[in-house]
Amino acid sequence: MTQFYHLDRRSLLRTGAIASTALVAGATVAEEALALGSIPDGDIAILRFLAAAEILETDLWEQYNELGGIQDSEESSGSGNGAFTGGLKFLDGDMDQYVHDNTEDERSHAAFINAFLVSVGARPVNLEKFRTLDGSKADGSSKKKRLTNLMKLTIDTSYWTRYRSRAHNPDLPESPPFVFPQAIPGLKSGQFPAIPRDNGDLSPSDHIQAIANTAAFHFASIEQGGTSLYPTLAMRVTHPVVLRILLSIGPTETMHFQTWQDKAGNFKRLKDPTNGLEFPELNSPPFGGEDFQTNLIMPEPCPFLDRKFPVCSIIRPVSTDPRIFGAMAAAKGLAASGLFIGQSKAFFKAVGDLAEDADEATRRC
Ligand SMILES: [Fe+2]
Ligand SMILES: [Fe+2]
Repeated sequence: MTQFYHLDRRSLLRTGAIASTALVAGATVAEEALALGSIPDGDIAILRFLAAAEILETDLWEQYNELGGIQDSEESSGSGNGAFTGGLKFLDGDMDQYVHDNTEDERSHAAFINAFLVSVGARPVNLEKFRTLDGSKADGSSKKKRLTNLMKLTIDTSYWTRYRSRAHNPDLPESPPFVFPQAIPGLKSGQFPAIPRDNGDLSPSDHIQAIANTAAFHFASIEQGGTSLYPTLAMRVTHPVVLRILLSIGPTETMHFQTWQDKAGNFKRLKDPTNGLEFPELNSPPFGGEDFQTNLIMPEPCPFLDRKFPVCSIIRPVSTDPRIFGAMAAAKGLAASGLFIGQSKAFFKAVGDLAEDADEATRRC
C-alpha cells in the first residue's frame, strides 16, 4: 500500500506577513479576526488540512451524486443512473435528495475554508493537479477525472459497534486492545465497488443492490470520520474565530453521519452473486443485541474521560493523542479504505504534509 511520507521540512503556511487591520464598525468576521491578533500558524495548518479533507469529500460525494443523487443547478455534474439510484432508494425513498445535500454541504465546506484562508493572508489548498483518476464509465457519470477512487473500497464498519458499545471507548485504550466488531465483516476483507464501474455492474439486480448497500455503509464511514475529526482538531486551535469555524462545521458532519447510519440499517439482506459479498441480518444471531441492532441509531452512553465517571453519550474518538486519532490517523484511515488507490506519491506527500502540520498544532492559551 502506498505510504504517507514523513519528511523533514516545514511548509510555508502563509503567503506573506499579515497586515494589521483596525477593528471598525462593519468589519467582516475575517477583519475582526485579524484585529484580534494574527491567527497562529497551528490554526492555519488545521484549516488547511480540513480544506484538503473537504475537497476530497466533495470529490467522492460528487461521484455519488452524479449516479445516485439529484443533478440540478446546485450539483450539475452527471446525469443519474437509474439502476444505482433505485438500489439506493431501496434503503430510503429520499436517498437521492440526501446524497445531493451531503454533496452540496461538502462543496460549501471546502469553498468556505479556502476563502477564509485567503481572507487572512494564508494559502488556500488546491489539489487539482492530482485529479488524474478514472471514475465510473457507467451511464450517468460525467466521466471526468477524479481525486478519489470509489471502485475498490475496503470499508471498516466498526463505527457501527463503536457507537453502540456501552463498555468501550477508543479514547480509553485497554490492554489487550479492545477491537470493535465489524457490522459487515465482508466489506473489511476485500475490495468492492461503491458505485457501478460501468454498465456491466448494473445487473444482476442483487449485484447492483450490493453496490448500493456498500455505498450506504461507506456514506456513514466517511461522515463518522468528520464527526470525530472536527472536535479532535478543535481542541488544538487557539483563535476564537477558527474555533467557531470548527464548531460550526463539525456538527453538520455529525448530522450526515446520523442520517447515514439510520439509512444503512435499511440495507437489503443479500449475497452478491458475482463476488460473494454478504450483507447479513444484523438483528439476529450471530449478530443481534445492542451492538448490532439496526434501529439503535443514537449513540449508546460509554465511558468518557475516566471510567470512574458514569457513562456518557458522546462522539468518539475525540482524542488529544494523535496516536489514537487526529489528522494523520484520518488520512491513513482513508488510504487504508482504498479511497486513494491509483494516486501518485506526490499526492500522498501533499496530503501527508498537511496532516502532519495539523497534528503538530497546539492550543495556545
Ligand atoms: Fe464536510
Ligand atoms: Fe462530510
